[in-house]
Amino acid sequence: MKPYFQLDKNIVHLNHAAVAPWPLVTRDAVIAFATENAAIGSQNYDLWMQTEQQLKQKLKHLINARSTDEIAILKNTSEGLSLIAQGLAFNPADNIVIPAEEFPSNKVVWQALQTQGIELRQVPVQDIDEPEQALINAMDENTRLLSCSSVQYARGLRLDLDLIGQACRQNETLFCVDAIQSLGAISFDAQACHADFVVADGHKWMCGPEGTALFYCRQQVQDLLQLRQYGWHMLKDAFDFSHQHTTLQIADNAQRFESGSPNMMGIAALNASLGLLLDVGIEEIQNKLIENADHLIAQLTSDSDITILSPTQKGRYAGIITFQKQHVDNVKLYQHLQDNDVICAYRGNGIRFSPHFYTEAQLIDKAITIVRDFSV
Ligand SMILES: Cc1ncc(COP(=O)(O)O)c(C=O)c1O
Repeated sequence: MKPYFQLDKNIVHLNHAAVAPWPLVTRDAVIAFATENAAIGSQNYDLWMQTEQQLKQKLKHLINARSTDEIAILKNTSEGLSLIAQGLAFNPADNIVIPAEEFPSNKVVWQALQTQGIELRQVPVQDIDEPEQALINAMDENTRLLSCSSVQYARGLRLDLDLIGQACRQNETLFCVDAIQSLGAISFDAQACHADFVVADGHKWMCGPEGTALFYCRQQVQDLLQLRQYGWHMLKDAFDFSHQHTTLQIADNAQRFESGSPNMMGIAALNASLGLLLDVGIEEIQNKLIENADHLIAQLTSDSDITILSPTQKGRYAGIITFQKQHVDNVKLYQHLQDNDVICAYRGNGIRFSPHFYTEAQLIDKAITIVRDFSV
């Protein structure tokens, strides 16, 4: 495969579910941005704005949004989820449904509403046969919103979003997806799954920088979000500084959620990363990524001392495989892997490996050998 990445020879990077390394094109885009800025400052600001629009086009394409009018670029997933939680006008009788095992970003924003009397229903989805149905069953006529990760961060359970989204639409419940563990790894269709909101920072499977995030808000629900932060960039004619409106003229698209100056360097970086991923093709990426996950599962399964904690049925996992080794201290094993340049994570009481599409099988095998040889 073409060397899209150039990690140090000794590094085995199995941590794309945390913070991914950058491809070479992204490194080059950031160097070019810095070099230009040091030489001529913002003289070419109009070109930076073009890159911003290009990134919105790519994000639109990535999630099959109807229009870039539904896309804003924010700081991170937490900011997007907060805009939703703080923007919706809840009634005291409303409830919100989330999986119990969510990453804190998709939990704390809803927990913060409990002071207003909003009930938060946390539904266990791990290790059960029909996680979607469990979430659907937790809804009633007062469920204002259901929010879930497309792929659970700790053990990698992949949810059938179409099923959940359809039930939400029928119940007139808003559907919010934290897609950070699938965008850039597997295909995603905001229209097919009836998502009202999709949020994801770019630093995991999209292989971009931290601090540059997708915020998708379906056109028809944009007015439901009261604005909680304000600035020049969210105005209709943001760059027309000549006239003074007596009333606020807020942009009538998702730009209204971008209050001030954009993170132009992050945008240049994520635009380069996504450009590469879209050139390779998400279907091709998904195939290679699942091939790697399958290889990992096969290797782990062949060792009777290893228990895989992730679901292993086809369609139930994406890039995350979490496991435990019997008879050893798994925290020490995790540390041992780190010490041997295997970058991974300890999550969900196990060791989490998350190889991407470009990860070579021999590197996965190297990590597995270290796991097998560990005996303390
Ligand atoms: C499911 C999920 N959501 C969100 C985040 C990160 O949120 P933020 O972009 O606000 O840092 C992570 C990071 O591990 C995650 O796994």
